[in-house]
Amino acid sequence: MISKKLEKAINEQIAKEIYSSNLYLSMAGYFSSISLAGMASWMRAQSTEELQHAYKLFDFLLDRGGLPVIGKIDSPPNHWKSPLDGFQVALDHEKIISKSINDLARLARKEDDLSLEVLLHWFITEQVEEEATVSELVDRLKLASDSPGGLFILDNELRNTPIAQ
Ligand code: FEO
Repeated sequence: MISKKLEKAINEQIAKEIYSSNLYLSMAGYFSSISLAGMASWMRAQSTEELQHAYKLFDFLLDRGGLPVIGKIDSPPNHWKSPLDGFQVALDHEKIISKSINDLARLARKEDDLSLEVLLHWFITEQVEEEATVSELVDRLKLASDSPGGLFILDNELRNTPIAQ
């Protein structure tokens, strides 16, 4: 049985993952609206992945006799100054999520909940990968800042982004 303290903390993380999904869906809309279909596709795939993160935590809570409670989810922004600004916001957001996952892992350790700790190892690894991927895209957008050709090459690369499981 999961402790009430951890149940509350996991529910807070579920809300953050759903917010992340909504943020990236909103970004997908923004990129579609400025005819960058590859970036829109990448963001849409990211949005789906974030929901899967929420489901992982949701199912874990149920398996441990806890109750998933979906809290208030803030509305995400819906406009960014440029493609670079959008991806920079995504990177900054992922850094916040990494900190939140690490804090949750520390709490699991403090509460001596080994199964939550093991689950969070997956999330910690996932965050390293996500930050690295978005960071590379930010770098490439910076390099392409004076070159519309570079922007369109990157956009084309991001078409048909597979969704990781
Ligand atoms: Fe579920 Fe991108 O953190």
